Amino acid sequence: MTTPTPIIAIDGTAASGKGTLARRLADALGFAYLDTGTLYRKVAVDVLAAGGDPADEATAIQAAQNLQKNLDLQSLKDPAIRTAQAGKYASVVAAITGVRTALIDLQRGFAAHPPALADGSPAKGAILDGRDITTFICPDAPVKFYVDAAVDTRAARRHKELRGNGEAIEFEQVLDDMKIRDARDMGRKDAPMMIAPDAIVIDTTTMGVEAVVALAMEHVRKALPDR
Ligand code: CDP
Repeated sequence: MTTPTPIIAIDGTAASGKGTLARRLADALGFAYLDTGTLYRKVAVDVLAAGGDPADEATAIQAAQNLQKNLDLQSLKDPAIRTAQAGKYASVVAAITGVRTALIDLQRGFAAHPPALADGSPAKGAILDGRDITTFICPDAPVKFYVDAAVDTRAARRHKELRGNGEAIEFEQVLDDMKIRDARDMGRKDAPMMIAPDAIVIDTTTMGVEAVVALAMEHVRKALPDR
């Protein structure tokens, strides 16, 4: 019998710092990392690029099925998926059941058989972050985190990031978008965002990146002592 791949599952609100934490843990542990939000962002961007409406179920489901069939991990690094518009429409397509269903196997496949790292060495495990990783995609992951922060703090972080990417957007707009997105992610009927009962909750409102990584690493070492 083969030993299952060690998996770290991370969920959390927008701009809570879950992606930064996931990347840092992946680097420290030699795990492969999948930011599952990029999948929903890519579906939204593909629909928009083809002149479609992301709220139209059939169109969005088709785009998700195409993505899962022809996934090129490199395409998830496209800066076009990091815009405020892509984030907004990502949460619209993510509320469509058929879109979520189309992306399940891809995410579970990544978790069970993570791809090699950038230097070609085999991954020692998998880290996935998103909204339903701890609760639905990888409910048996031995390490689970739920990352959150006050909404004003998250909006300020996202505003800085979008400005840094050259997007002319006001703070109030980012804050409003974030509140709408949180409500949509928590309120949808299919795999809504929630805190798994066995997840370790980390509130990053007043914590720096190093402190968050150190705290998470303590939990990882306890749950995966040979890492
Ligand atoms: O980076 P940010 O936290 O703003 O969002 P993201 O992780 O890129 O995810 C964008 C959107 O995709 C979220 O608002 C969710 O609606 C959706 N999503 C989801 O439904 N399930 C996931 N596992 C990941 C993202």
